[in-house]
Amino acid sequence: MANSIFAKRVECLDESATFKYSALAKNKIDLTIGRTNFDAPTQIKEATKDALDGGKIFYTKSRGIVELREKILEKLERENKIHNLDVEKIIVSVGAKQIIFEAVMALIDRNDEVAIPDPSWVSYESIVRIAEGKVVWLPLKAENGFIPDEDFFSVLENSNPRLIFINSPNNPTGAVYSKKIMERIVDIAERKNSFILSDEIYEKIIYEGRHISIGSMYENTITVNGFSKEFSMTGFRLGYGACPIKEVIDKMNLIQTQSVSCATSFVQYGAIAAFSEDIRDYVDRMVSELRERRDFLFENLKEIYPILEKPGGAFYFFPKINSDDIEYCDKLLENGVAAIPGSPFGPSGKGCIRISYGGSEINDLRKAIEILKSIQM
Ligand SMILES: Cc1ncc(COP(=O)(O)O)c(C=O)c1O
Repeated sequence: MANSIFAKRVECLDESATFKYSALAKNKIDLTIGRTNFDAPTQIKEATKDALDGGKIFYTKSRGIVELREKILEKLERENKIHNLDVEKIIVSVGAKQIIFEAVMALIDRNDEVAIPDPSWVSYESIVRIAEGKVVWLPLKAENGFIPDEDFFSVLENSNPRLIFINSPNNPTGAVYSKKIMERIVDIAERKNSFILSDEIYEKIIYEGRHISIGSMYENTITVNGFSKEFSMTGFRLGYGACPIKEVIDKMNLIQTQSVSCATSFVQYGAIAAFSEDIRDYVDRMVSELRERRDFLFENLKEIYPILEKPGGAFYFFPKINSDDIEYCDKLLENGVAAIPGSPFGPSGKGCIRISYGGSEINDLRKAIEILKSIQM
């Protein structure tokens, strides 16, 4: 738009494709959503209500309450083998998304290169654009199940990224990266002195393979995680970041103090219950239900879309459809199914669609399969 009254940083942004297509999903079988249809664990809801009734209603420390950061610290050391941390090297905020935003704002200047796997969650590119950084897409292929291959590593090797995004298990592809892949990424990052942002929000939603935290291998890593997916708490808005280099978290915290101030006080207190042993049952039940949905869908989807690997984690399929993804999703909508076109997830997403099974039970998935089978394009 000529002579726009708005700043250039918003002119280059599009509405998040996931929000846009979710809004069109009313009265359809909704395969767009980035969460599960499970209720949040009772223990966390009760603890949050108790905190609210108990007067935990004021600003907290900007980085988050120490009791919660202590639990996060323990978890990152024990489960993720990330060392050289302490509570000051951990920051809690209003969702993993805000943590990612703060990390990019703290590290990226105009024209700094940021390497992003292609396809990737839509917000990575937008956040880098707000920071005026330069996106370097690292191409991935449906044929390889979107696991990094020689083309991916060759583009990474030939770039000079200040920051590399890694997200395993992955949105939108469901891919889980092995230790070998992580080691190759670390080798390049080390030589180029790049930071890595490891988005581990789907850590616990994994069916095959083992989750590897790249922060256990490489100090210049900001590990990002949260409560949205594992505990179906997207509306609580709570996530965290950790980095052994304290200055990184200090700078992210500066942005936090001058923007959201802190995460919601009673939500932070409630989230302490997420670290109790008895909550593991909840996660196990959810993952086993999601695994059934994944297996059911895979058996059926591979007949419709021949180029499809079984995803090892998260709750998405990202099949190649062999036609225009936007036209295809519009056609699906006309027939009662909502899914998200692949192109907003990056150049390699063109000609793919994202199917989420987080929010739909097998019965609905069965109906969706019938409709997908009937679409000819
Ligand atoms: C890969 C990825 N990272 C981060 C987020 C954001 O999570 P939160 O709700 O904690 O902001 C999402 C949500 O969809 C996601 O898919």
